Amino acid sequence: MTSIAVVNQKGGVGKTTVVLGLASAAAHRGIETLVVDVDPQGNATSGLAVFEPTRSIDSVLAEESPGGIESVMETTGWPHDSGRRPLVAASSPTLAAREPQLANDPLGAQDRLSLAMHGCSVPLILVDCPPSLGLLTINALFAVDAVMVVTEPGAWAVDGVGRMLQTINRIQTRRLDGGPEVKGIAINKLGRTRDGRYWHEQLDSAYPGQCLPPVHLRAAVSEAAAQSRPIHTLGSRSGVVEAACEFDVLLDSLLETTNTGGFSHPGAIRQGET
Ligand SMILES: Nc1ncnc2c1ncn2[C@@H]1O[C@H](COP(=O)(O)OP(=O)(O)OP(=O)(O)O)[C@@H](O)[C@H]1O
Ligand SMILES: [Mg+2]
Repeated sequence: MTSIAVVNQKGGVGKTTVVLGLASAAAHRGIETLVVDVDPQGNATSGLAVFEPTRSIDSVLAEESPGGIESVMETTGWPHDSGRRPLVAASSPTLAAREPQLANDPLGAQDRLSLAMHGCSVPLILVDCPPSLGLLTINALFAVDAVMVVTEPGAWAVDGVGRMLQTINRIQTRRLDGGPEVKGIAINKLGRTRDGRYWHEQLDSAYPGQCLPPVHLRAAVSEAAAQSRPIHTLGSRSGVVEAACEFDVLLDSLLETTNTGGFSHPGAIRQGET
């Protein structure tokens, strides 16, 4: 089992789009996947064609609920030709009110999602996070084996990714297993322009060897999300095939077993190290 959180505190960079693209690639390949939508906006839930969920992740975050995620999983509304249709632990607008409530737990509530996911046997779990470093994102980072930072190639991207990696490192020092492993940085909405190349290079030189295969800016990618359909079922026209292929390659790089254990933010020091 591999669980991966998709994060960036900055909004609109493509976290949800990348989760949906990876879920599409996994479905196409026959990998059973669970998408956990901990963003109150619920974009991953609707992108998976679940419009009126009967259950939501909020109920398992409301109280300690070991193994509880299985009770809220449902099959998505993606078409049958998507391959192995993913499961979703759907978002709910009530998640927005849950976050301040979690903050009031005197014992700390950062491990509720981890408890809920305990024993879950789905081989691939993707957690779509909200654009903040609040307790919903923190819960995701305590629950998963690995994390991927998604960013746009633009001004402040290097700083934004750095801040995110610092937060991840703080979690690593608190988790007994030193997790989550940082899988890398996915550069999304990469344009074929001089500007795109420049910011790509900036990220590459700030985080050498840590940038994952990029996802280019393409109309087909936003169309798939707008139609609540997996990119792999949008046909064979130009743009669709290339986008689907990029998500295949990104999935490969995340599932690579040869990964040497990820990386930490430069200068990060684990507890116990000198
Ligand atoms: N590679 C891409 N090509 C074209 N459009 C894209 C691409 N990636 C994302 N988009 C578009 O950018 C917008 C923001 O994407 P998305 O909702 O995935 O970002 P997000 O980081 O999840 O946002 P939030 O922080 O609000 O959750 C959407 O309209 C989406 O369709
Ligand atoms: Mg999103």
